[in-house]
Amino acid sequence: MKLVHISDIHLTVPGERMGGLNPHRRFAQALDDVRAQHSDAARIIITGDLTHWGEPAAYATLVDALIDLPCPVRLLIGNHDDRAAFLAAFPDHPQDAAGFINHAETVDGTRLIYLDTTEPRTHAGHFCSRRRDWLEAELSNCTHARLFMHHNAMALGLPAEDKIAIVPEDRGPLAALLTKYRDRIDYIHFGHVHAPVHGTWCGIPFAAVRSTGNQSLPNLNEQELLQGAPMAPSYGVILAQDTATTIHEIPFTWDGPIFSAGTNWDDWAKPMAAE
Ligand SMILES: [Fe+2]
Ligand SMILES: [Fe+2]
Repeated sequence: MKLVHISDIHLTVPGERMGGLNPHRRFAQALDDVRAQHSDAARIIITGDLTHWGEPAAYATLVDALIDLPCPVRLLIGNHDDRAAFLAAFPDHPQDAAGFINHAETVDGTRLIYLDTTEPRTHAGHFCSRRRDWLEAELSNCTHARLFMHHNAMALGLPAEDKIAIVPEDRGPLAALLTKYRDRIDYIHFGHVHAPVHGTWCGIPFAAVRSTGNQSLPNLNEQELLQGAPMAPSYGVILAQDTATTIHEIPFTWDGPIFSAGTNWDDWAKPMAAE
């Protein structure tokens, strides 16, 4: 099963820039690359910060952008999103009984669980008891699952970024829940940090992908300020085979030279000088 993981597209009202670049163009480039290279994907999953300021006109551009894709798209919201504006643009989108944008589906034998970690007017993530109850019901009823979320649940050793991870009062109970079901959670995939980060938490491997827009510079010393730069973006391609996982980072804006080489021993031999 191939899953395309895109994150932090930060769409604006058309004509407005985000961090000095055009987020619509970047997102369109990413989708064009997916169409060209990954038409066999089972899902395209966009893990939040769908818009930059949560405006209806920005969500309208997302509705239009998702036409004519090779497979279904699954959407999560992030701290830059507005739940009501999102639902106005996607009125048939699934919600849980409490109104959170939690949803799940089984694809190729794996439960894909898409979580809503947002809270109004804060950049930090939240995952309250109602959301944990919903997640526990999902985990208790599946054989194995893959979690997608916007926020990093765990601290990452980035003091400024860690201020807007899932808040500590929700992190502890979430860690207890995930630890309880760790044997059936294959991976945790998220965005929010605008950088590739990999590790394990509660005994479960995790990975974050870059933004399609601006990237963050991992600063392990800065205490207050997030630091970013218009570095090259990428999206992720997840190859999931039962409980096994391989993740590729796809630099979809690269337009420089590409070299080809065979893999036989002699293909890499030093060219012999002419005699
Ligand atoms: Fe973001
Ligand atoms: Fe975010």
